[in-house]
Amino acid sequence: MQTFTIPTPDDWHLHLRDEAMLATTVPASAAVFNRAVIMPNLVPPVTTVEAAMAYRQRILQQLPETYRFQPMMALYLTAETTPELVAEAAANEHIIGFKLYPSGATTNSAAGVKSVDALAPVLEAMQQHEVPLLVHGEVTDADVDIFDREKVFIDRHLRPITEKFPTLRLVLEHITTADAVAFVEESSEYVAATMTPQHLLMNRNDLLVGGVRPHNYCLPILKRRSHQMELQRAALSGNPKFFLGTDSAPHTQDKKETACGCAGCYSAPAAIELYAEFFDAHGALDKLADFASGFGADFYRMPRNTNELTLVKETWQVPATVDTANGPMVPYWSGESLNWKVQS
Ligand code: NCD
Ligand code: ZN
Repeated sequence: MQTFTIPTPDDWHLHLRDEAMLATTVPASAAVFNRAVIMPNLVPPVTTVEAAMAYRQRILQQLPETYRFQPMMALYLTAETTPELVAEAAANEHIIGFKLYPSGATTNSAAGVKSVDALAPVLEAMQQHEVPLLVHGEVTDADVDIFDREKVFIDRHLRPITEKFPTLRLVLEHITTADAVAFVEESSEYVAATMTPQHLLMNRNDLLVGGVRPHNYCLPILKRRSHQMELQRAALSGNPKFFLGTDSAPHTQDKKETACGCAGCYSAPAAIELYAEFFDAHGALDKLADFASGFGADFYRMPRNTNELTLVKETWQVPATVDTANGPMVPYWSGESLNWKVQS
């Protein structure tokens, strides 16, 4: 039996949702990851330290006893966020940073930021307290094409932010374009990016050719193949600025398979296997450990994990559906096969 062992990975971008959904999502991620950055786009969003600590407790309640899993909470940045809140967040060991959603950019982002410029005092405080800024990097202007929204956000907002706040720790989340790769590569060591399985494994043909595939629909939307290839090059390069963040984003089947379907791929049931599939397909399985278990911890200045996870070379199929308290969910890669499986 062929096996492959890596230090236990961490997921630096994860949506778990709340209440009954946690019974499905928490064990799925905790079975594989030691730590995860928990996105705050609940309804209403997680905007205070108090709300984040309460949410963290609800997550921990769903943790099977044998799992050690640390939820690292991100706070939702709004027009009401103050420098005082930044200081409070900096002093709390369970809060990892603030998530910037441009208003209307994605699922549950109505409370997001309408003016990035108005954030200057808060970004100043984040730089000073060394609190990372996690960014959903897309503009939302109706006159900007959906496939250009990441590039325009980088040019219009991110370059000015990194110039004005050169030591602000910034993670551009779930990058999808060659422009994002170039921006991160050209930026200082204070700037990094997460990458999802779907953006490494797929391009917009997988969304639109031969019929619309709602389960491959996420935001930022899959881009053309040339962008996918740049993402692949960056992930395979061993540059420590690029690391794992699944963006696993659960939505029930009825919310995905409908006239106006939700954005988000629920990749948690096969997360590490999907990345293994990608690296193995490029003959670079040896690059998986740093990408999944090393570079993220280094960027966030946390210790690397010392326990291990073993993958077994075994073909298996991602389940067609996953049952949840809110109805069935179709996971990402549903019904398709993978060549590596986490050893149980
Ligand atoms: C995410 C969600 O469903 O919460 N959806 C997505 O398509 N990625 C939100 C996000 O990360 O943009
Ligand atoms: Zn996300």
